[in-house]
Amino acid sequence: MQSDETLEIARLALEGKTSDVRLYLAKLVRKERKDNPKLAEQIETLLRIDPARSNRVLRKNETKHINEELSQNEDLSILHSTSNPTNQEPLLSQELKAQLDQILSEREHTQQLKQKGLKATSSVVFQGPPGVGKTMTANWLASKLELPLYILDLTSVMSSLLGKTGNNLKRVLDFAKNQPCVLFLDEIDAIAKKRSDESDVGELKRLVNILLQEIEDWPETGLLIAATNHPELVDPALWRRFDLDIAFNLPDESNIRSSIIEFLGSDLKDFNHLIELLVDSQKGESYSNIKRTINRLRKLKILNPTEFESSGIKYLIPNLETLSRQERIAFATKLVSDFSFPKQTAAKLLGVSRDTIRKKIAASHT
Ligand SMILES: Nc1ncnc2c1ncn2[C@@H]1O[C@H](COP(=O)(O)OP(=O)(O)OP(=O)(O)O)[C@@H](O)[C@H]1O
Ligand SMILES: [Mg+2]
Repeated sequence: MQSDETLEIARLALEGKTSDVRLYLAKLVRKERKDNPKLAEQIETLLRIDPARSNRVLRKNETKHINEELSQNEDLSILHSTSNPTNQEPLLSQELKAQLDQILSEREHTQQLKQKGLKATSSVVFQGPPGVGKTMTANWLASKLELPLYILDLTSVMSSLLGKTGNNLKRVLDFAKNQPCVLFLDEIDAIAKKRSDESDVGELKRLVNILLQEIEDWPETGLLIAATNHPELVDPALWRRFDLDIAFNLPDESNIRSSIIEFLGSDLKDFNHLIELLVDSQKGESYSNIKRTINRLRKLKILNPTEFESSGIKYLIPNLETLSRQERIAFATKLVSDFSFPKQTAAKLLGVSRDTIRKKIAASHT
């Protein structure tokens, strides 16, 4: 290390610019790695000292420094930062909500927990199908904890990580450990495959081992969240290291109804009579698919206000055109008796007469 570098570090330190000191030192590590590996390693160890292991909230100006560090440090460029996590609360089952509330509440009782030798939950797995709110919940938790959210999508970075001996992954994890933040490891199954998997090259194994080591003592000041659609692919050894495993599910009927109502927003009054039909048509769909359908219908209504009902229903039942006459009668009857559609509307939509519907309903009551 040269004297001008020593001076610069002294100046930054005395000015109290801790983040800048760290940034400067990180640069030095890269510079010295070749000529002076011992020094580089010692500085790296020093950089792991966390000045912030108290339960404080990250201040705005510090977020700025971190983002600067992110953009300047090539090794960290695989990390995606969301400086402004959305605070929109996801719709979740009671059980899931209770688990999330406990995570938040533990943070407020770290001292009491510590007295009993307990630690607040600092690593969680979110497992579940696509579009059910895993990413959204990570955002929401970060905003509740008033922490910045960093996202590392392991699928998209796999290739960049592989060539580079996993050091990048380690650096990202160390970076995230060294300041209070939420780190979201998306699609963790991309690297955490069971070791018997045939893509079990040495490099992959190394990545899993790095993860195994790093997860265990994740600091309470931050939160590590890993997400996967394929829990069955994940190495059980990795699974065990996480404090908590949360399963996200497709919405049940009552959650489908709540989500439709929420997604309709100010259009609810115009769709009120269609709600039960919508609920019925969205069974088995994810929140994200339901939202897409509802947005599509809302747009149809704007573009074609008089015909939106028939075009909307056609959209909900894509094979409407190919139904046989018997099927159309059955469907029209269903609209009237199960979804309280006026006979006239149902008759018009399905191209059958009101009389036919009336007779069919009467027949079903006898
Ligand atoms: N539980 C939910 N409550 C409200 N909206 C939701 C919920 N889940 C998903 N959505 C809607 O769907 C969008 C996509 O959801 P999100 O990205 O959180 O899904 P995911 O579970 O992370 O899926 P993937 O496994 O594909 O990453 C959200 O931005 C939101 O609009
Ligand atoms: Mg996601």
